[in-house]
Amino acid sequence: MDQTNSLSVIAASPGEQTGTQRMHVRQFRAKPAQQAARHWVRGDMFATAFLNALSVVFPRGEAFMIEALRPWKDRADCQLAQDIATFITQEAAHSREHVGFNKAIIDAGYDIEALDRAIKQFVSFFSGCGEVTKLGATMCIEHLTAIVAAEILKNREHLEGTDLELRKLWLWHAVEEVEHKAVAFDVWMFATREWSGARRWLTRSALLLAVSLSFFINRTRGQVELLQQDGLSKPTAWWKCIRHGFAKGAIGRNVMGPWAEFLRPGFHPHQIDDSELLIRGENMLAAIKLVTEGSAGDAVRTTPTLSEKLAVNA
Ligand SMILES: [Fe+2]
Ligand SMILES: [Fe+2]
Repeated sequence: MDQTNSLSVIAASPGEQTGTQRMHVRQFRAKPAQQAARHWVRGDMFATAFLNALSVVFPRGEAFMIEALRPWKDRADCQLAQDIATFITQEAAHSREHVGFNKAIIDAGYDIEALDRAIKQFVSFFSGCGEVTKLGATMCIEHLTAIVAAEILKNREHLEGTDLELRKLWLWHAVEEVEHKAVAFDVWMFATREWSGARRWLTRSALLLAVSLSFFINRTRGQVELLQQDGLSKPTAWWKCIRHGFAKGAIGRNVMGPWAEFLRPGFHPHQIDDSELLIRGENMLAAIKLVTEGSAGDAVRTTPTLSEKLAVNA
């Protein structure tokens, strides 16, 4: 890891941080042999269904977002072009690792065809749209991804009781999602630079509402599909899935505030200061690497504290 770059990240105030200052590509390869437990999140079928339903759609979803940003790389200025390049490299690595993880979901006995079909339909819906619309959808998906990733980093109980190899995968992905959360937003601002402020706000607000509704319905359907394969009836799966997702301390409830921030005129992703979370996420990754590999590798940002080392074994 580039230590100089990471130290500059820590030193800069959030308002001064640009995407590139905060971003770097981490080397990460999951160990597929460790990914076979059916309810791998502490035996909890609901928590497992939530993360599995996300994982299944990552490869196609991330490919869509890469293609939405790619055309802007040669049009943007140097800084933004570098951000896009880093974004593409990070998302491509996420897709690669989640393809492996999704094979483990199938190996655990799940049929993920219906979930895959849903993300294919989402992508094909946007395939006939213009570049700016695809970019706008990507910006909104990235907001959803970033707030869920931040929540996972903030409340470590979401990944408690998971195999350390799997925890590394999800922490690594969460760190990079939070880190590159502003790239699609910045590209969209660049692409719509000649629009009025009101047009930009109305368009991005409408897009967020549409994308969020689609995300909520399709990801819940995906979880229900998996829970039915665990033996629940469809109505029970729907009810318990929503109750579990929006209970006190659950991800769905905790991200509602940050989700709504996007609707505020003048919003920018970096106004939500996640710099401490990024350091914490990197430290958790480093601590797990120390335990599983005997070395913190490139994940270390600062030396993990004893409590963080102990926390990964909790
Ligand atoms: Fe990703
Ligand atoms: Fe992303």
